Order: sequence, then structure tokens, then C-alpha cells
Amino acid sequence: MTDLTAPALRPENPRFSSGPCAKIPGFSLDLLADAPLGRSHRAAVGKSKLKEAIDLTREILNVPEGYRIGIVPGSDTGAVEMAMWTMLGARPVEMLAWESFGEGWVTDVVKQLKLDAKVKIAPYGQIVDLTTVDFDSDVVFTWNGTTSGVRLANADAIPATRQGLTICDATSAAFAMDLAWDKLDVTTFSWQKVLGGEGAHGILILSPRAVERLESYTPAWPLPKIFRLTSKGKLIEGIFVGETINTPSMLAVEDYLAALKWAKSIGGLPALIARATANAQTVWDFCAANPWLANLAENPATASTTSVCLKFTDPRITDGEAFAKAVAKRLEKAGVAYDIGAYRDAPAGLRIWCGSTVEQSDVVALMPWIAHAFHAEIAAQAQAA
Ligand SMILES: Cc1ncc(COP(=O)(O)O)c(C=O)c1O
Repeated sequence: MTDLTAPALRPENPRFSSGPCAKIPGFSLDLLADAPLGRSHRAAVGKSKLKEAIDLTREILNVPEGYRIGIVPGSDTGAVEMAMWTMLGARPVEMLAWESFGEGWVTDVVKQLKLDAKVKIAPYGQIVDLTTVDFDSDVVFTWNGTTSGVRLANADAIPATRQGLTICDATSAAFAMDLAWDKLDVTTFSWQKVLGGEGAHGILILSPRAVERLESYTPAWPLPKIFRLTSKGKLIEGIFVGETINTPSMLAVEDYLAALKWAKSIGGLPALIARATANAQTVWDFCAANPWLANLAENPATASTTSVCLKFTDPRITDGEAFAKAVAKRLEKAGVAYDIGAYRDAPAGLRIWCGSTVEQSDVVALMPWIAHAFHAEIAAQAQAA
């Protein structure tokens, strides 16, 4: 008989959601006391906060001089859509996807922009081979597939000199993975992911070549104000020093600043990457020791270190989806893991956020609970049969 006693140790923070993600360690609302609430974001105090957020983003992510960083509306989705609607259509387009968000960008380009794009979609757990892609086309892809737990190992296959633009949704990669700036013309992310910020705003990072495209190409379709990055054929430079297109939440900005300062205090990008990697390794080691659980990512080289997606492989499981949901429910009910069911469009299983704000001790404490919930559910299934 399997021992069904609950583990003694519990994660101190049971928040393993893949977005919004766990707040920074030690977070309290007191950290936001300096937010200039009730003041104009165009006043000096507001502008300086927005500029500081841009400057710290550049510093921590090592974004090269000459690349613009803008705070834009609509979170990561807003940033990706803005890039696609303003830049695509000038050249042939290749759309790459290895999970549902990437597939969403494919739908937008094919069905909304009605571009005759070449589409490459890898099944969940796999990735598109970048060596098969023509980078003289504009290429849109997601660095880390949040719903499949599959990520690019690196951007080596992207030529440093290319005719096309690369548009990269890096929302669950930025701050936890090394992004190769010379290979990325447009990079986007939102604050609610690796730094545990608030939903609301997106970050749009543009290479000089992306700016050149914006200034030399006018799409055939109309652009709403919220997407417009140029005026009279010139980049609106103000957007990239904190003069946002419309009103931002200064509370969310203050929260992002607190997260950036925490990131800097622990050692910046290398420390953030190391934290996510150690967290993911903890889960991988657990999978290796427990044959009933496996990473959805088939190749360890492309396994995500932030959104770690898992599948149950025990042959005794009769209904995979119901089983995974029941395990996630048990963990939530026990108060040891919130929001770790697989994404609604992804294969049944669990998804454990291992991003940089998550403490490794919490991941370590969670693992025996997963075993506990698994065995309890196997027993429940046998009893119901
Ligand atoms: C890869 C990816 N792209 C886009 C999004 C959408 O992000 P947002 O809600 O910040 O717009 C998400 C959210 O989980 C995501 O994981």
C-alpha cells in the first residue's frame, strides 16, 4: 500500500500560477507607498517614474544602446499586436508556433491581417526547427511557449544579418532567460510574468531595423491610435522615454519598479536566470525520480525553466484530463499549490511556474505534495472503478 500521509512540509508561498506570477519575495503593499497616485503621468514625477522603469529594464536586460524600450497599453498582447499591425505586410511572413499563444498570433496574421504567411506549427512538447526558417522573411515567434513548456534553447540559427524582422513574444522568457538582442528586432513582454508584476502594460523593445521599418512602411490597413508608433513618418520618440500613448497605471508602474529594484539587488539577470533554472531543475529531478510524471517538453535542451509543463504517464490512469484536474484540485484544496492545472488548450497535466520570483524552497516543498495527490487520486480512481 502506498503511504497516503500528507507531507509535513508545506510551501510557504503556494502561488505557482503562470501569470499573474508570484510577487517578489518579501512583497508588501508598503513597497508601493511612493506611487504618485492622483497625479498626472505627464507631470515630472510621473514621467520620471516611467523613465526609471525604462532605464532599469534596459540595465537589467542588457538591452543595447540604440534599441528603443516603450511602455505600451494592453499588456504583452498589446505589444505583440502593435508590432504585427504596424510592421507586417512589407515582406513575406513566416509564423512559428509551439503552443496556443503563438497559434493566436498565427490566427491574427492569417485571419485578421489576411497575410499569406508561411505557417509552421510544432505539436505540444516539440519546437519548430529554426534552421528551416527563412529569415529574409519577417518571422514571428514566441521565445518560451508558456502553455507547452517548450522554449528556444538559443537564437543561434537566426542570422545576425537578415533581410526580415524577427518579432519575438518573450513574455514568459524575459528576465529568466538570455535573450540574444542582435537576433531580435521586436521583443515584447508583460510585467505580470517573470518579475511578478501587475497586468496592464506591455513592454515593446525595438531594434534600429524595426524603427527603420516603422519609418519607411505604411500598412495598407487602418491603425487605431493605441497602435500608432509613428507620426508623419517618424517614430514617436516620446513613447520610448515614458510619454505613454495613453494613461498608464502609476500603481502598476511603482510595482514594476519595486520588482526591478529587487532584481537588481539580488544580482540582476544572472541571478534571475539562476533562480528559475534551479527551480525548474528541482521539478526535472522529481520527474526523473518518479516514472509516473514526465516533462511535456520532449527535448531537455528546449525545456522551459519558467512554465514547466508536466504530464501524467501512469498506465492505470483511465481519464487523463479528469485525473490531472483532480490532482490540481487536491493541491489547491490543501493550500499548497494554486493555479497549476495545464492551460485550457494544452494537453492534460500540470504547469508549475518556476520563474525567478518563486523560491526554490517552495518548489522543493511542493514536490512531495504532488506525489501525495497523485497517489491519493490513483487510490480514489481504483475505489470508484
Ligand atoms: C506566450 C504568451 N504570450 C502572450 C500572453 C498574453 O499576455 P498578456 O495577458 O500579458 O497580454 C501570455 C500570457 O500568459 C503568454 O504566455
